[in-house]
Amino acid sequence: MASREAAMSKTACVVGGTGFMASLLVELLLEKGYSVNTTVRDPGNEKKISPLLALQSLGNLKLFRADLTDEASLNDPIAGCDMVFHVATPINFASEDPENDMIKPAIEGVINVINASAKAGTVKRVILTSSAATITINQFDGKGLVMDEENWSDDEFLTSKKPPTWAYPVSKILAEKTAWKLARENNIDLVTIIPSLMAGPSLTAEIPPSISLATSLITGNEFLINQLKGMQMLSGSISLTHVEDVCRAHVFIAEKESASGRYICCAVNTSVCELAKFLKKRYPMYQIHTDFGEFPSEAKLIISSEKLIKEGFSFKYGIEEIYDQSVVYLKANGLLQN
Ligand SMILES: NC(=O)c1ccc[n+]([C@@H]2O[C@H](COP(=O)([O-])OP(=O)(O)OC[C@H]3O[C@@H](n4cnc5c(N)ncnc54)[C@H](OP(=O)(O)O)[C@@H]3O)[C@@H](O)[C@H]2O)c1
Repeated sequence: MASREAAMSKTACVVGGTGFMASLLVELLLEKGYSVNTTVRDPGNEKKISPLLALQSLGNLKLFRADLTDEASLNDPIAGCDMVFHVATPINFASEDPENDMIKPAIEGVINVINASAKAGTVKRVILTSSAATITINQFDGKGLVMDEENWSDDEFLTSKKPPTWAYPVSKILAEKTAWKLARENNIDLVTIIPSLMAGPSLTAEIPPSISLATSLITGNEFLINQLKGMQMLSGSISLTHVEDVCRAHVFIAEKESASGRYICCAVNTSVCELAKFLKKRYPMYQIHTDFGEFPSEAKLIISSEKLIKEGFSFKYGIEEIYDQSVVYLKANGLLQN
């Protein structure tokens, strides 16, 4: 780990600072002593910007207006930076044109961020936030599969069969593959962090959709419970990580000189049925259903973080803390009663 003194001489760019994970990453970097440049799409959106403005009391944080699809807008925030965290991604599950709303801008985004990083001449490493959805979606049968960084989801299956939410995994797969190709061509030191579904408290003004999804069995939101079941059917498991651990993994890998390649960051592997049983026992005050009829009770696979752990990373939070902290957060935001 870099000392505070070493961090204080360094500037990190976080692309997409208004996001759930990115705002916490900005906070962590500032706490560690880094100067931080972060990009926002709309500096006039006070609701989105105010959590970042509040972080300016922690250290040297500058906000820049930038869009993933506008390469020139990324030059100023990245100029002079030592490391670039590309966290932003276009997410619009309701889109009727996911090709243009999600897939193309995600790919354009990595091209523009990597080009701007190459142009800057100061960037030692680009850290791209990918997704477990780039790893787990396959047509394999069976149980007990162990997925690691060698695995890639089957994008041909996704684009031909178009299961619900297909465009998001395709956008992440194609964006990460494009990043690897460009990084090789431009001699850029790229690492990718591959998180599973994140939960835990957020700094954002709105409740992030991933927290709502992860806690749907507690809140009883039928629509989201069905999405969670869909996630298990498509991805083979319900795999979770505390957002703070995902941010810690980003900084850990950014600072670890010998790090290279892809790193899965996943703390917990479970299934809808197992998760419901765990939650019912831990939170007896809520009406949590545990009967899912014929729905597969076990996960098909686990996502392994062995490579990250072998590098020396340790997860701070398990399933108990992920949910205890998410429940406190939902109560504080009026989404759950005591
Ligand atoms: N959340 C999860 O459970 C999860 C799991 C695995 C991987 N991931 C990955 O982790 C990263 C962060 O996820 P998150 O849930 O924290 O994201 P999020 O809260 O949905 O934030 C997405 C960010 O991307 C920005 N963005 C979207 N389109 C953009 C564009 N064209 N130009 C510039 N910025 C744009 C958004 O800006 P605006 O505020 O302006 O809209 C926002 O800051 C993503 O790469 C995601 O794929 C997330």
